[in-house]
This record gives sequence, structure tokens and C-alpha cells, in this order.
Amino acid sequence: MKAQKAFTTNVLRCSFPLLGLCHGNVNWIAVGDGPSFSLSSSNISYQFHVDPMTLDLIHDHWGAYAAEPVPDFNGVISGWGGPYTYRRREFPDLGRGDFRVPAIHIQHVDGDTVSAFSYTGYNIAPGKPSIPGLPATYGSEDDVSTLIIHLYDTVSDVSADLYYSIFPRYNAVARSFRVTNNGSHNITVMRASSWSIDMPNEELELIDLYGDWAAENRVNRRPVVYGEQGFRSSAGYSSQFHNPFLALAHPSTTESHGPATGYSLVYSGSFSADIERWSTGWVRVLLGLNPLHLSWILPPGETFSSPEVVSVHSEQGLGGMSRSFHSLYRNHLSRSEYTFKPRPPLLNSWEGVHFDFDQSSMIKLAQDAAGLGCTLFVNDDGWFGTNYPRDNATLGLGDWTPNPAKFPDGLGPFVNQVQNIVVRNSSARIQFGLWVEPEMVNPQSDLYKEHPDWCLHMGRHNRTLQRDQLVLNVGLPEVQDYIISVMEEILNSAPVQYIKWDNNRGMHEMPSPSGSHAYMLGLYNVIDNLTTAHPDILWEGCASGGARFDPGLLHYWPQSWTSDNTDGLERLQIQFGTSYPYPPSSMGCHVSAIPNHQTGRITPLAFRAAVASMCGSFGLELDPSTLQQEEIDALPVIIARQQQINPIVINGDFYRLALPDKSNWPAAMFVSPGADSAVLFAFQIRSSLKPLPAPLKFQGLDPNAKYRVSDGTWERSWSGSTLMNTGLGLDWPHSDYQSFILTIDRE
Ligand code: GLA
Repeated sequence: MKAQKAFTTNVLRCSFPLLGLCHGNVNWIAVGDGPSFSLSSSNISYQFHVDPMTLDLIHDHWGAYAAEPVPDFNGVISGWGGPYTYRRREFPDLGRGDFRVPAIHIQHVDGDTVSAFSYTGYNIAPGKPSIPGLPATYGSEDDVSTLIIHLYDTVSDVSADLYYSIFPRYNAVARSFRVTNNGSHNITVMRASSWSIDMPNEELELIDLYGDWAAENRVNRRPVVYGEQGFRSSAGYSSQFHNPFLALAHPSTTESHGPATGYSLVYSGSFSADIERWSTGWVRVLLGLNPLHLSWILPPGETFSSPEVVSVHSEQGLGGMSRSFHSLYRNHLSRSEYTFKPRPPLLNSWEGVHFDFDQSSMIKLAQDAAGLGCTLFVNDDGWFGTNYPRDNATLGLGDWTPNPAKFPDGLGPFVNQVQNIVVRNSSARIQFGLWVEPEMVNPQSDLYKEHPDWCLHMGRHNRTLQRDQLVLNVGLPEVQDYIISVMEEILNSAPVQYIKWDNNRGMHEMPSPSGSHAYMLGLYNVIDNLTTAHPDILWEGCASGGARFDPGLLHYWPQSWTSDNTDGLERLQIQFGTSYPYPPSSMGCHVSAIPNHQTGRITPLAFRAAVASMCGSFGLELDPSTLQQEEIDALPVIIARQQQINPIVINGDFYRLALPDKSNWPAAMFVSPGADSAVLFAFQIRSSLKPLPAPLKFQGLDPNAKYRVSDGTWERSWSGSTLMNTGLGLDWPHSDYQSFILTIDRE
């Protein structure tokens, strides 16, 4: 576990009732009185109060700091609705005349779906209680304070506890809730949105990340219009189609100016984001579980816990929002001991040789990797299976023993041989990493023949294959035990130092809608178990590229493969998009061969390497024996330079200076804590005679300090103010796909 940093602040305030005003059944006046709550730090405030008439929670404010709750001066609102319609609600339930999308929807034993949650009290917990069975942000009482609001539905005997945690140093509030069935019959939780607020009538734009395989995290920005807007994953996993993240910003908000609020769901399963602009102009913001994959049966006496949403507010544009997420997630979400450590430059075998290898060719690949300066060699897919040897994607998933035809002596002796290979220009030996995909099974496997019922399936429906595989039902305890035991067997058989945990399809034919959530609880149990037992292993998540790049798994694993698309140009967009919520330190990025396997594009090695060097985990994904001599000569220099800048990529503050979907000259920089050093990456997509590039304005430096700027071939000094306000003109060659990596050091 990482050490906690100390930070003290008094951030929670609660005050007590004054009278509210009621004007009959259809006209309501909102006042900011009643018990009121404020979670504040010097930059942000989150405020709500209890309506004294209805005991409903009314949302007042989430955004920049406000010294006190402000009454809603909208006055009397006339209309067709009732006391719950014209209110900006904090935890909207269903069935009492709030006609917008609810945060909670419960079906009771006789089939009705009316809930009536009323405020009963609150308490304050030191630090932040963990959420049973789910990943979440964490911190000591110096880092975070938690307010718990208690609600009760006396008609149905159901309680709800809302958890609000403020991380003052990160301008962040995390929310989750727990529902307990205190009655004597089962209830069914149909919908659970961890985050729900009603924002006032303001012009807003919705920003989210959509995509697909090899096209992850494209940025989508559009006005919030009347009616419902939103997106979801119904894939069982967080997926590549939409990331569980959204931001709301003013139309004038840019990367560096203006208000922006980000919302990020700490969860890896199906999810739903719902934005609803109502007649009043108010904007309801909901983020949580996907109701299509819930219907969670809650027996008497049991509690259902929602995953949490983390929201950060910035007045420094989308860049400020991202930096808050990055720091919070590195310091208070990731529990890996690698989070702040430079990562080993690696060579991954996949794009170089796919399934076509044996022990001796793998040793040769590892020797070539070490000869170039890589310090980690990763044997990707294809190493396992005896009766169904994994020589192609149709065979062997589920049978996690080494293929005897490829590794006649087993994994241990092979790994020992690899780990005897000395890395170029050092006395260090190369490390060894292995690919696994333990949540999946090919029908052509011993595991499937033995346990055909372990995969997700529904009665007589077809078991639909995707990539020739089925999904194991990780919600089943016996499947969880199996995965833990096969992983332990692998790790006992050989001194593996890195694991790439892949997952290459979505869920179909689930036995019940809640199967996806039950699966996630099972998966988190498995991963918690393995990462706790093996903290020394560098774990990397992967799901056909970035299909499970989410905060849920970043809690356990410090990094994730960002995309199967390794084309330098496409990767710029994917990596910039991914950086909206996720720190570049958590991205895995590799240099692959040309023409690129996915797009056929040819780009210079220096360009591909600069793009990959912007990520925490840099690697090569090619067969060095196919390279030209000049590439072989260049790679050790590239890797040595990447290793020099990797610490600041891991630890620095990230600034997107120019975006790849808006500029021919995208650029980004990392600035060290204290602004003593920085590294800047700049790219030219196409050679252009006119117009000329805009001056490259740096960010995050000390305006009064002098900095030495160098690209390795030249060096000049300028003050921080000049670099940030005048900007630098770079001397771009007349050629496509060019790049600069500049180091910037305080003199
Ligand atoms: C997925 C991963 C790739 C590679 C292959 C192996 O597609 O994203 O990186 O590991 O599986 O089958």
C-alpha cells in the first residue's frame, strides 16, 4: 500500500431548520432553509438542504466555492406537477410526481414501484468508509471527510444511506449510496444511479468519450438540449463504445479557461449516463448502473451498495478538470505500489509474431528486446493449452497450462532462461511478463468439456460465440475459485514479474439481468485476492485494447493497454481522449512496425516513439529481426531517452496544449510538482507551407523562473512568462508526421 499524505481541513458544515413556505398543491416556493449541508474547500462547494415540508433532499449547488447556501429565488413555480416535480432533487425516487428519470427505482413485492424516501438524520464519518465488494477512492481523515445522510421509506420499510466524501485538495466529491431492505419480503432494485443532481437552468455542453475496437475514447462535445441525452454500456463491461465518464462545461469553456465539472464512475460493468433537461431548463445529471442490467433482488435484512461516482470541479477548463482526476486517481484510487514508479520499457510479442512461436524463437525475441535496451519481455497470447493448443484464437482459452509442444520443460525453465538475458549496456537481467485471459473459455478446451455450465448462457438460447469464445460466469463462486487457483498455479510455476490480463468480448445470454453486476462483484473479489497476494507483480489491464479502461480496474491495476490501434496518428487522438479522466501514467503505449497492422499507415519511427513516450508504460510491439539497420541503431537511443523522461510522465501534471482533432500541430506537456522541470511533446501531422503553426504556448511553469529548453540537439533559455505568454515557434521540417520532445529545466 502507498503512504498517505497528510492534509487537514474542516470541510463539512450542517445547519438546522428554518421554516419553508408551501403554497397549495401545485405551487411551491423553494427556500434554502431546513437542515442544510455544505461540503466545501477553498475552491469548491457542494450544497443541499432538506425541504421541511416533504423531508426530501433539495440540491442547491455543485461547483466553485460559495460561502453559504443560496435560496432558490425562482419564486412560485406553477404547473401540472406536485411537490416533487418543481424541485431540484438530490436523490430522486419514483412514483410521487417527479416525472424525470429517477436515481432509484425499486419494485416491491406486490409489483408497485412507488418509493417515498424522507430525511431522518445524518452522521459524519472520519476519512472514507470503503464500499463492500467494490473498488473506490480511499484516504485518511487528513485527506477526505464523509457525510452520510439517512433516508427512510416508512411505507415500504426500506432505508437509503447517501455517502458524500469530499477530497478538498483535489476539488473532488465522491458519492455512492446503500439501500437496505428492512421489510419482510424481497424487493428488486431496478435502477441505481450513484450520482444524481439537478443543476439550474444554465447553458451547458456535454462532453463524453465514445468509440469502438481500435477507435477508443473519441471526444464528443454537444449542447445539452431539452429532453433526455445520454449514453450507456450494455456490454456487461464498461466497454469501448462509451467510457463511464462525462463532463459538463459552459459553451465558452476551453482546455484552460472556464468552468468544467467531470463525473467518473468507479465501475467496470454496464453503466448508464442520463442527462435530462426539463421544462424549467434544469438539468438532471445521473450516472450509475445500467437499469437493463440490474433488477437486483434484495432479500429482507440485506443491503445493496452502489458503486461510487467521483466528480471534480474546475474553473481552469477541461485541463484543470483532468489534472484533478489524474492526481486524485494516482493518490487515492490506485492501490498499486507501481503507481508512482517509472515502468520498464518492454517488448510485447503480439504484433511481432502473434501465435507463431516456440520456446527458442521466444528466447531469441527476448534477446533482441534486451539488445535494444528493453528491460521487460512479455510473452503475449499463444503459450498455453495441451489437448487444445492455443495456436489460433479458436482453441485453448480456459486451459492455463503451458503448451508442451512449445515449452517442453514447462514455464519455469523457459522463464529462467529469459531472465538470464542481460540488458544492453547494463548488468541487469531482463524481466519476464505473461498474457492471460482468465475470464474466458473456448468451447474447444478441456475446461469447457468439463464445465459447460460455467459460461454465461441462458437455457435453450444459442451460446453466441465472439472471437470463438464464451464468457465464464465470474459471478459463480466456483468460477472465482478456479481463476484464483489457475493464476496461483501459473505464478507458482515461474517467477513472472508482469501480467497482462486481457478480456476479448462482451456478455450475451446472461441468465438474469443482474448477471453483469454479480459478475463484477465476483471479478473484483478475484482481482482483489490476486493483487493483494502478489503486490510485486506489475499488472496491466486489457480488453481488446481499451474496452475496460475504467477507474474500477485502475483501483487494482496501475495501467491498462490503451488500444489495439498502434498507428501513431490514430493513437494521438485515442491517448488525448483517454487523458480526459485517466492519467497518462496509467496508459500502455507501444511502438509497432510499419506499415501499421491496423491502418496500413507509414510514419517515421521517431514519431511513433514520441507518441508512445507520452504514456506511463512504453514498449515495442514488433519483431526486431524484421527492422532496418537504421531502426535497430535508433531504438536504443529512443529507449534511453524515454527512460529519462518516464519519471515526469508518471508523476507530472499533464497539460493538453493543442488537440489532435483541432490542430495540425497537437502538443502536450508534463510539468513536475513545483514546476522545476517539464517535458513537452509536439507533433506535426501534415507538412504545411501556409498557414504557419500558432506559437506553442507552454502551461504550468513558474512565470518568474528561467528555463533551459532543449530538444537534445539545441539548447536555449527563456523565462517561464515568455514560454507561456509569447510561446515558442518550432522549426518544423517539410515532412509529414514529425515530432519534437523538448526538456525544460529550471536554471
Ligand atoms: C487482444 C489484445 C491484444 C492481444 C490479443 C491477443 O486483442 O488487445 O493486445 O493481446 O488480444 O489475442
